[in-house]
Amino acid sequence: ISVLSVASEVFPLIKTGGLADVVGALPGALAAEDVAVTTLVPGYPAVTESLQDGREVHAFAELFGGPARLVAGTAHGLDLIVVDAPHLYARSGNPYIGPDGRDWQDNPLRFAALARAAAEIGLGRGGVPQPDIVHAHDWQAGLTPAYLVYDGWQRPATVMTVHNLAFQGQFEATLLPRLGLPAHAFNMEGVEYYGAVGYLKAGLQLADRITTVSPTYAQEIRGPDAGMGLDGLLRARAGQLSGIINGVDTAIWDPAADPFLPAPFSPRQMKGRAAAKAALQERFGLATSPNALLFGVVSRLSWQKGLDLLLEAIPTLIAAGGQLVLLGAGEAALERGYRNAAAAHPGRIGCVIGYDEPLAHLIQAGAEALIVPSRFEPCGLTQLYALRYGAIPVVSSVGGLADTVIDANEMALASGVGTGLRFQPTTTLALEGAIQRAAALHADQTVWKRLRRNAMATDVSWTNPARRYAALYRDLVGNRAS
Ligand code: ADP
Ligand code: GLC
Repeated sequence: ISVLSVASEVFPLIKTGGLADVVGALPGALAAEDVAVTTLVPGYPAVTESLQDGREVHAFAELFGGPARLVAGTAHGLDLIVVDAPHLYARSGNPYIGPDGRDWQDNPLRFAALARAAAEIGLGRGGVPQPDIVHAHDWQAGLTPAYLVYDGWQRPATVMTVHNLAFQGQFEATLLPRLGLPAHAFNMEGVEYYGAVGYLKAGLQLADRITTVSPTYAQEIRGPDAGMGLDGLLRARAGQLSGIINGVDTAIWDPAADPFLPAPFSPRQMKGRAAAKAALQERFGLATSPNALLFGVVSRLSWQKGLDLLLEAIPTLIAAGGQLVLLGAGEAALERGYRNAAAAHPGRIGCVIGYDEPLAHLIQAGAEALIVPSRFEPCGLTQLYALRYGAIPVVSSVGGLADTVIDANEMALASGVGTGLRFQPTTTLALEGAIQRAAALHADQTVWKRLRRNAMATDVSWTNPARRYAALYRDLVGNRAS
């Protein structure tokens, strides 16, 4: 089976969050299932500069305001097709936001172009063999199923994956004539969404199958809270909607062979973990006490992630004897809040505001526990890295967090299956309770080590998820053949 995966980010070339990790890891994971994945991405400078053996396979005289090419090549072991359209993508830095901190004004066109290019390839007009399946990720690729449906002579099957329903790509209806879609596409069964054009809505409406990145989130988004206005559509299409949990790239996230750690470690040889903890404490200017209950956070600083609640819980964390390191960037108020907290608690709290991939690894390796107090979380990858690195996840009980962390309550402890701590609802009070519970467990090192062994033994690989994607693809291809 051949799949064209369409996305706006792919690790390690361009990343703002978990989407890139997933899109970057899927091809390798699916290869083991006899699924050949080619990934279509926009030609940002970071992408075109890394592309090797690039060869032009198709040229557009005009693609949303300028000439463009499709260039096939490889990078970091990934088979890529790059939409080389300098008028849209030759801008460095964040893929969505300009230097003024705002979304690029032409984002609707930039990502319509990605979808248009995907559809050309999907219809066998992109200069490469027609794929069996076109798999679109998030709103940036959301128009792909629409172009295929409305242009569709012998179109391939389509899958739309929601990594985050909060980002929907909604634009004014005046955009419609520029998209090159027929007028009748602008209705409830098409790309129209409350009088506007909805890119994600279009994908959810028109794809053959919908997936999201955990079973619990697949449930939650059919309700009004997590559904964010699309719950009606998702209820109507519930028969085509499923949740497949993410895995992690176990080669990149491997404590036994991680170039960003001072020393390797594994469940049988944990000395390297103590070295990482000391390095982490030093890096953040904390007291280098080997027994401290050191909490870590690696996160975008946005409402979704609930880190305002952790700010409020800091007095409790300090009273419980904890230390805290935070690596994150995002909302100014939160950045300020954590800088102030670090200044107010020298030696106990440290923060690095920014994006730092190596430091993210060191935090997973050195922290005793990783806090993820999300208000909603489609899957979440940081708690999976934490499990693998033996940082006990302390998570709110939502979405993929609920699906991947087994709470160490008394029953779970007795039967030896707990891997972390879950709390609900997502409130400061419940988070404080979880922090105190973590402190109580940590005080008994036998229990804590047991918990850590369980966490590190959790299968967070792509093996099972890849099997499920492959089964979905096979099902789709089989349906069409018959
Ligand atoms: P989301 O995609 O919603 O941000 P995930 O947990 O799925 O959440 O994925 C986040 C990814 O981004 C992880 O790989 C995490 O390590 C990484 N990340 C988030 N913030 C930072 C940061 N400030 N520095 C380095 N990596 C970060
Ligand atoms: C989104 C979600 C996150 C998920 C990631 C990858 O960014 O916020 O929960 O893990 O996509 O699927």
